[in-house]
Amino acid sequence: MQRVLLTGAAGNIGGYLRKLLPPVYPGLVLSDIKAPKDLQPSETFIQADIAKADEIERACQGVEGIIHLGGRSGEAPWEAILEANIVGCYNLFEAARKAGVKRVVFVTSNHAVGFYPRETTIPTDVIPRPDSRYGVSKLFGEGLGAMYAYKHGIGVTSLRIGNVGDKPLDARRLAIWIRPDDLVQLIRIGLERPGLVYEVMYGVSDNQRSWYDNSHARALGYDPQGRSEDFAAQVLAAEPPASQKHPAAEYYQGGTFCADEYSADVSTLKDRS
Ligand SMILES: NC(=O)c1ccc[n+]([C@@H]2O[C@H](COP(=O)([O-])OP(=O)(O)OC[C@H]3O[C@@H](n4cnc5c(N)ncnc54)[C@H](O)[C@@H]3O)[C@@H](O)[C@H]2O)c1
Repeated sequence: MQRVLLTGAAGNIGGYLRKLLPPVYPGLVLSDIKAPKDLQPSETFIQADIAKADEIERACQGVEGIIHLGGRSGEAPWEAILEANIVGCYNLFEAARKAGVKRVVFVTSNHAVGFYPRETTIPTDVIPRPDSRYGVSKLFGEGLGAMYAYKHGIGVTSLRIGNVGDKPLDARRLAIWIRPDDLVQLIRIGLERPGLVYEVMYGVSDNQRSWYDNSHARALGYDPQGRSEDFAAQVLAAEPPASQKHPAAEYYQGGTFCADEYSADVSTLKDRS
């Protein structure tokens, strides 16, 4: 692809991808509501607020592929989620359609399905169980992606990312961690795989403790190299005891996102598994 747009480029994952993607996509264009602090002279940046349709339309001009990271990356008041992740995500897909963009990789989240218990292994086609307003907004984006794929012919991939980083940071992230170069593999499948219509994949590395059946991603060519188990002993030694955690955070895959604002009866938690 000649011109690939990376939204949310000033954020955490953007920081990794700005290093890893230029050799693969020399025409990479960065976008965000604010410029990355360490923007380099070699980088192309277009400032755009995705909540403003005209701004994101301008950023999409001449673009063949989009990696959409921009927006709220965690739980927030409804008004903030609405603006960045609902209105903003709609504006992004509409701008892609108007500009004739061929592929969109939408970065969704494990929090779209966070209310599955940790003792279960889930494929990508489970009934959604979002654990937050944030998780609901990610499902909205997944839905938009499917609609634009089937109605408008854009090849769309929804990547349900676990947690991106150089290493897993705690016990939960031993299950959901993804190494940045593995994320690049998934992005490349989304932007390059011939004939792709609409796909959902989990964005996790080769984690022994994973809660996800990611066999579909492997069938599409994903061959993750990161292994969270290499860090397990060190991570588990530093883990606080379960007694210090909210039962819903310990029981469900979404962790503290499930426990935040929780008002159901925790003594019947396992009846709602
Ligand atoms: N970090 C993870 O491990 C992880 C896990 C699952 C999903 N995700 C998703 O990946 C994406 C990137 O995550 P991150 O950790 O880099 O988040 P981040 O918060 O560091 O970056 C998000 C970026 O989006 C930009 N942004 C916010 N509102 C915007 C708007 N209205 N218009 C344009 N840009 C806007 C912010 O300025 C920021 O630079 C997010 O969509 C997040 O939900 C991240």
